[in-house]
Parts: sequence; C-alpha cells; structure tokens
Amino acid sequence: MSGGHSTYTPKTGLGRWMDSRLPVPRLVYDSFIAYPVPRNLNYAYTFGGILAMMLVVQIVTGIVLAMHYAASTELAFGSVEKIMRDVNSGWLLRYLHANGASFFFIAVYIHIFRGLYYGSYKAPREVVWILGVILYLLMMATGFMGYVLPWGQMSFWGATVITGFFTAIPLVGEWIQQLLLGGFAVDNPTLNRFFSLHYLLPFMIAGVVVLHVWAFHVTGQTNPTGIEIKHKTDTVPFTPYATIKDGFAMVVFLAVFAYFVFYMPNYLGHPDNYIPADPLKTPAHIVPEWYYLPFYAILRAITFNIGPIDSKLGGVLAMFGAIAVLFFVPWLDTSKVRSAVYRPWYKLFFWLFVIDTVFLGWLGSRPAEGAYVIMSQIGTFYYFAFFLIIMPVLGLIETPRRLPNSITEAVLEKNKTAAAPQSAN
Ligand code: HEM
Repeated sequence: MSGGHSTYTPKTGLGRWMDSRLPVPRLVYDSFIAYPVPRNLNYAYTFGGILAMMLVVQIVTGIVLAMHYAASTELAFGSVEKIMRDVNSGWLLRYLHANGASFFFIAVYIHIFRGLYYGSYKAPREVVWILGVILYLLMMATGFMGYVLPWGQMSFWGATVITGFFTAIPLVGEWIQQLLLGGFAVDNPTLNRFFSLHYLLPFMIAGVVVLHVWAFHVTGQTNPTGIEIKHKTDTVPFTPYATIKDGFAMVVFLAVFAYFVFYMPNYLGHPDNYIPADPLKTPAHIVPEWYYLPFYAILRAITFNIGPIDSKLGGVLAMFGAIAVLFFVPWLDTSKVRSAVYRPWYKLFFWLFVIDTVFLGWLGSRPAEGAYVIMSQIGTFYYFAFFLIIMPVLGLIETPRRLPNSITEAVLEKNKTAAAPQSAN
C-alpha cells in the first residue's frame, strides 16, 4: 500500500518463493514496518488505529452474539435475555458489543475533529476524507439497525420514528419507508432485514477501511504542522515508532472501555430498552443513542416552513444536510494553510464548533419545547455557518502565523523552547 519504492528483501528461500507469487509479506513490510511517518505525530493521530481495533472487537463479538440471537419479534427480546443469563460469558459479549458501539463512535468523533483541526481533508487527501465520511455513514446505519435488534421499547419506537422521517420526502418517501420496513409498520420483516443488514454492513465497513488506509498510504499522512514531508529527517519508520505509540493509546482506550463494560455497562444505554417492545405503548420521550443526538437536535430545530418546504421535510433535509456537508469540506476550506496550529481565528471557530456539537447533543436529549427549540436553532445555525460561511470566508481573510520551513525545523524549535527554562537554571 506504500506509494514509495519498496525496500523489502526476503531473507529465506520460502520468502523469495512467495515474493514472486503473492507478495503479501512485502505489502505488510512496506505499509506497516518501513512505511515513513512524520516524526511529530501526536496522540490525536492514534485514533485511526483505535478505530480499526474497535471494528475488530465489534465484528468478533457480533458474530458470537449472532450464534445465540433469534431475529423474530416473538423471540428477539427473550434471546437477548438468554444471552445475558444462560450463555457462557454472554453478558460480557453483549456488554462489549453494546458499549463497543459507543466507544467506536467516541473514537470516530475524535478522529473527525482531528481531521478538521489539522486540515487533513485538504488536497491531495480529499479521497481519504470522502471515504471517511462514507465510513461514518455506514457506521451510523449499522448502529441504528443494531439498536433495533434487542426489540425493546426504544428499539421499536426509535425505528418507527427514524423510518417515519423518510415519508417527508416528496413522491418516493412512502415507498422508501415501506422498503425499509418490509411492510407498513415496524414488524417481523423489519427486524429480519435489519438483522441481515446489521451483519452485512460491518464487512462493507472493513472493505472501505482498506480503501481508506490505501488512500492515505498513497498521499502520506499529514502531521500537526500541516507541512508535507520534505527530507528523510522529517520521518521515522512506522515500526517501532508508530506501532508503539498506537499500541499504548489502544491499551489506554481499552482500559477506559473496560471500566464502562465492567462497572457501568448500562450507563450509555436507555432503561426503556429493558422493556419488551410494545406497539400500543409509546414511551414518554423517544431518544436515540447518544451518538445521533446532535443530528436529532438539528432535525427538531426546523419548526417553520421554508418557502414550499414544510417544517417536517425541512428538518429531514437539515439533518441529512448536516452530514452531507462533510463531503464538501475539502472545497469549502479556502485557506492555503492546512493546520489550525498556524490559524488563530480558525482555531477559535473550530473550538466553538466542538462546543456547539456537544451542546446540540445535549439539546437532542431534551424535549423539543420552549427554550430548547430556540437554542437548537442557534446551535444549528452555527453548525452550518461553520462549514458554509466561516470555512470559505476565513481562508481568504485570515493572516496565518509564520510557518516553519520543515517538520524537522518545527520539532527542533519546539525542543529548543522546551529546553530553554532548564538551561536558564
Ligand atoms: C471505521 C472507521 C475508520 C477507520 C478504521 C479509520 C482508520 C484510519 C487510520 C488507521 C488512519 C491513519 C491514522 C490516523 O491518522 O489516525 C486514518 C486517517 C485518516 N482518516 Fe480515518 N478511519 C475511519 C473513519 C474516518 C472518518 C469518519 C473520517 C472523516 C470523516 C476519516 C478521515 C481520515 C483522514 C482525513 C485521515 C488522514 C489523516 C491525516 O493524514 O491527517 N476517517 N483513518
């Protein structure tokens, strides 16, 4: 997957034999051992590896769970309870999988914010970014369908509300909804197709991850300075430097994950999902999983008609638009400087954007009434303004700070300032 020249030389006869037939060891060596990475990568750059690890956790636990799960409205809830009580270590598998989804999303949000901060999406990495947005969409779809499987109250009502959005789309909306449901309401056919797709999509994610990783091996990774690699001294080999750093970050991440799994396994879930689905009893508040909440707030912020677009369709368009806008980020940012480190104003607006999305997330968990609606409207305005106004305009008018000539110069400058107080002693 390396874009550069291969330095692999097989040492054994078997290695040479294989190398001239299917050079997998050469691919691994070039991509994960000798591959040159910028020497100044920080811990924000470890989340891609963490995401890959979490994908494996989800697939392995999911496959074993599926051996005991029954995808039928009559049996689903009971089969999950059986997994929790009767299957050997079933409770562990389920808590790993359910909390694993949340931790997968925590990692992806940090990974996306990292990309926005360091301008990772800018040319020539547009395709890396776009593949990332596709991964994010696939993750959202997988998470949504997975949440329906235990067939609790939130599973049922969440599915009813979300699939209901599609009816707002003119002409084809109802047809799309029926296609998703396999009928006119959330029922057995819905559960069956969601299970089938929930099993399929992670493998599609794995396929897109291969393309994503391939793409950034062609362009090379960015780094906190945003300056491209110029000299050999700007880089270190992936192994041992990045492998050790990634490995350490994974262990810390797993420790926090384990804390949730073992000490607060239901903290991120909703208690109503321990009540079997009942189509005749609507829960007081239907709330999606925490990782969809900012988009849920955006959906409910549109309470007014916009010209011929009624508020329901407006909300749905705003919600999908909030994700779709990510595809255009490489072209919306007009700045010549890549990294926020050298862009004081962008840095400020970026952190406001982070606060705004967290705020929207909180608003998504509140009832859609009174001041919450107005706050959601302000939050939604800033969300879109960040991409559609701030990114294009700021790039043209902002005066960036002086850039170092190379990655090595930036590292040496940093070391000099760090060493200065010591030498003063
Ligand atoms: C299953 C989900 C994903 C996996 C497994 C994954 C994996 C990775 C890995 C291993 C890296 C290199 C290490 C690093 O920079 O952290 C990376 C880089 C990158 N990822 Fe992802 N990623 C995922 C989702 C996303 C998403 C959702 C986006 C953006 C919307 C994204 C955008 C990028 C970009 C732009 C880079 C290049 C970073 C740079 O060089 O500055 N990725 N990804």
